[in-house]
Amino acid sequence: MNVLITAGPTREPIDAVRYIGNRSSGRMGAALASAALEAGHAVTLIVGPATAIMPAVGRRIDVETAAQMHQAVLSEFPRHDLLIMAAAVADYRPTQIHAGKLARGDGPLTITCEPTADILASLASLKRPVQRTVGFSLECAGDLARSREKLLRKQLDLIVYNPTETMESPMVESVLLWPDGRTETVPSLAKDEFARLLVQRCAELFLPAH
Ligand code: CTP
Repeated sequence: MNVLITAGPTREPIDAVRYIGNRSSGRMGAALASAALEAGHAVTLIVGPATAIMPAVGRRIDVETAAQMHQAVLSEFPRHDLLIMAAAVADYRPTQIHAGKLARGDGPLTITCEPTADILASLASLKRPVQRTVGFSLECAGDLARSREKLLRKQLDLIVYNPTETMESPMVESVLLWPDGRTETVPSLAKDEFARLLVQRCAELFLPAH
């Protein structure tokens, strides 16, 4: 199977030297890439500025912003069977990037932001019947209703609910949700163990019952 995995945060520039970022390390994406390789799949990684070390995969594309990640996903998705969107894509970006470096002497600073494009949602209309998309949903403890809403709105085949504490932790607590209403509560696992389980569940999405 050809598997496309996104990993890490994105950075949205404010000026020539500053950006809006997030705490994603890219560890989950790295673990998923390793697990997919281990299971014999061909892996393409699209990676934001992650601190985690990524495994050596067949193809790796490094990006910085949500817009660059979007472009990379749009061009790579058609030749893949499965997309696992583990990246923590910025939801907002500054409307204007200040030329040069803002100086403190310029006085109070207000940054106006606009929403970025929703990468997974944009694939809903492009997805062929043989392709599968899987997303993550990092929510405040127990808000599975938000995860289910995202699963359906983005027309995903599987979504992984994680509580917000997962982001900087080596362990993962999760609930898997499918569009037919099924759920699976996964006990706390190390990220590499969780990644193996998720790759297995993703492979099952291609079985006739799905
Ligand atoms: N995602 C995406 N494009 C974005 C933002 C998120 O493809 N611009 C993907 C993430 O990689 C993740 C899933 O969508 O797999 C859910 O991300 P999340 O940030 O939880 O969802 P949002 O749709 O941004 O919802 P909200 O900000 O309201 O929680």
